[in-house]
Amino acid sequence: MTAAPSATAFPITRSATPVPAAERAARMENPIFGKVFSDHMGYAVWREGEGWGEHQIAPVANLPLHPGAAALHYGQQVFEGLKAYRWADGSVALFRPDANAARMARSAERMALPAFPEADFLAALDALVALDEPWVPSAPGTSLYLRPALFGSEPSLLVVPPLEVTYTLTACTVGAYLAPSKQGASIWVTRDYHRATEGGTGEAKTGGNYAGGMRATQQAHEHGCSQVLFLDAKHGRFVEEFGAMNFMAVRRDGSIVTPRLSGTILPGITRDSLLTLFRDEGREVEEKDIAIDELIADVRTGEITEIFACGTAAIITAVGQLKSDDFDVTVGTGEPGPVTVAALTRLTDIQYGRAEDPHGWIRKVV
Ligand SMILES: Cc1ncc(COP(=O)(O)O)c(C=O)c1O
Repeated sequence: MTAAPSATAFPITRSATPVPAAERAARMENPIFGKVFSDHMGYAVWREGEGWGEHQIAPVANLPLHPGAAALHYGQQVFEGLKAYRWADGSVALFRPDANAARMARSAERMALPAFPEADFLAALDALVALDEPWVPSAPGTSLYLRPALFGSEPSLLVVPPLEVTYTLTACTVGAYLAPSKQGASIWVTRDYHRATEGGTGEAKTGGNYAGGMRATQQAHEHGCSQVLFLDAKHGRFVEEFGAMNFMAVRRDGSIVTPRLSGTILPGITRDSLLTLFRDEGREVEEKDIAIDELIADVRTGEITEIFACGTAAIITAVGQLKSDDFDVTVGTGEPGPVTVAALTRLTDIQYGRAEDPHGWIRKVV
């Protein structure tokens, strides 16, 4: 048996000017997603021929980035998103960080970037969350959102894999996911834009996928919808995913249907966790191509009773309406249905330590 590779140490430089406790509490009161950064960050640099070095946890600061840095021009960038959850006993836990590490390695390979070793990915998370633990909120449903990223930082306008890559890890206090009692979201199904193509970068978590989707989200807003749903690029017919969440539907018989991982959608960790929990409770789960015309017909007849979006940031968002140029349908009652609400409870109970963790998904940090 070979031992797991050990992590590189991340020496800590504490901020000389951390946000004072009263100001921190004020910022954490009602945080806008992704705006309330903690005091510190993780950092490392990879250089061709040298590998990874300069590992550190340091005060959050602007980076010394040359305007010719590769990522600014050619989008050589990948990232991850996961959360640290405060438990009732005051401890703090991460949820499946090993899955994020593995996905970032796959994304990096697709974008011709060097992998950041899993042991270091986890060590940096442990160190940053322990140091910035006061930024982990305790109000129900809140958390510390963690954002590892890799980007080509070499000053070079050559269109080649970069010879220097920077790793950063930032953390943001985030508010509660939407309460399940709220009205379901209105979704615009775009026929004008596609997120990904076969052989493209759809299953990598890379910035360009999101940049390319922004116009579609604007279009959704113009139609009075909060989010966009993308269809496949080849046929313009099969449901892929939302702008930053995976798609799931519930049939009248309680079974679950979700798009298969075709290579053009992001393999969500929330998606995988929910499918596992649904199977645990004996539900039939089908991963398949879902044609939008059949889906709309099934929503109209009541064969599909619930639809929801799932992902780390918002966990689960119930879908109330699906709209496009040629349809406008209400899903079920338009409010979050029982399977959606129960799934949110089941998953968050594990994440917040209120229920047993049957699959070993929890990593205690503090
Ligand atoms: C495009 C896209 N799909 C799906 C997801 C859901 O993935 P996860 O559950 O791992 O957060 C995300 C969020 O990270 C995403 O950006």
